[in-house]
Amino acid sequence: MNTKTAIGDVKDRALSGDGVRRIEWAAREMPVLRQIQDRFLKEKPLKGIRLAACLHVTTETANLAIALRDGGAEVHLCASNPLSTQDDVAAALNVEYGIPTYAIKGEDTKTYYKHINAVLDPKPHVTLDDGADLVSTLLTDRTELLDGIIGGCEETTTGVIRLRSMAEQGRLRYPIVAVNDADTKHFFDNQYGTGQSTLDGITRATNLLWAGKKVVVCGYGWCGRGVASRARGMGAQAIITEVDPIRALEAAMDGHQVMPIQEASKVGDIFITLTGGLKAISKENFKVMKNGAIVSNSGHFNVELDIEGLAAISKSRRTVKPLVEEFVLPSGNRVFLLAEGRLINLAAAEGHPSAVMDMSFANQALATEHLVKNGKSLEHQVYPVPKDIDKEVGRLKLKAMGIEIDTLTADQAKYLASWEMGT
Ligand code: ADE
Repeated sequence: MNTKTAIGDVKDRALSGDGVRRIEWAAREMPVLRQIQDRFLKEKPLKGIRLAACLHVTTETANLAIALRDGGAEVHLCASNPLSTQDDVAAALNVEYGIPTYAIKGEDTKTYYKHINAVLDPKPHVTLDDGADLVSTLLTDRTELLDGIIGGCEETTTGVIRLRSMAEQGRLRYPIVAVNDADTKHFFDNQYGTGQSTLDGITRATNLLWAGKKVVVCGYGWCGRGVASRARGMGAQAIITEVDPIRALEAAMDGHQVMPIQEASKVGDIFITLTGGLKAISKENFKVMKNGAIVSNSGHFNVELDIEGLAAISKSRRTVKPLVEEFVLPSGNRVFLLAEGRLINLAAAEGHPSAVMDMSFANQALATEHLVKNGKSLEHQVYPVPKDIDKEVGRLKLKAMGIEIDTLTADQAKYLASWEMGT
């Protein structure tokens, strides 16, 4: 621990004791990141580097920030979503670990951007983003800082899509590593992490029984398929809505029902959007929902549900319990919206379990080291995580889980590299 107190902006610094205990609890499940941290402590590969990180401020992110600090970096952290901050963790990072952290659960949009600007003020060399708000702020309001930046990492699908769009338009001004696209990130974090934590968030907000429910999952990317499979595991029936024919086929052959959202809206008990897109559930869809339907979003931004449209058609609106808002439709049916349509797994629960964030954040730490070493020779493009880093994270995780695997014999390796041998 670093006893130097940092001056960030948090809800209550007195919460720091709880934060430390919970950060240490999460660390138990993050053995890969710990091994990287141990090496970082010895080698200090990030010495002299200033990092601006805009990530969900959770126990897992705290462990990443501490590992980066131990690697020699000066880390400044802010929230990547107004509702995802764990206030005790933010307090602990400032008070006990000396990492300036600017994050308050429930902060308004003005404060959210004030905090983003606060982590940019120290003139970072590397940015770590979850959703690309840091990069987009740099490209619009803080262009004077761009010359000092070596590179950045992006954690999530939505952020990578935004950054690719910036690169295509020639707007990106420094290289980005798409951490999301590492196999050891999206196969696990997006699928098993989102699958479990989304159901966890909805359960904590509502205490509903999943068994026997019809769960409409909008979007069958890695996150959507994780949620659908976990819902099925709880005894629910998943109904998938998609716009992509291949994904829709996959969903059908995975044994789920597939139908247009307007049809699904009439039969669903619980709705979860994970499309990364805009208004996956529209005003017209809300109008036909059953009495008691529960609607939530687990995609990055709160734009997947047309909440304004829902409010416009509703006869009344009130909060019935924390994170649950009731809307009375013209039909008299009541629809319950969870967590203002923000990421349900982080707003109502604690986000993905530590064991899965272990791999995502091991990629973040190693990608940061890679950028510090190589960033100056890279173009202003979005790059994949180097394969050797991805494989190393997989290898370390297997080792930590006590799982051994086989290696190819020389003959097998030769066969796979050749074409001569046939029938
Ligand atoms: N994204 C999803 N779950 C998370 C977690 N536990 N910590 C940080 N970012 C996350």
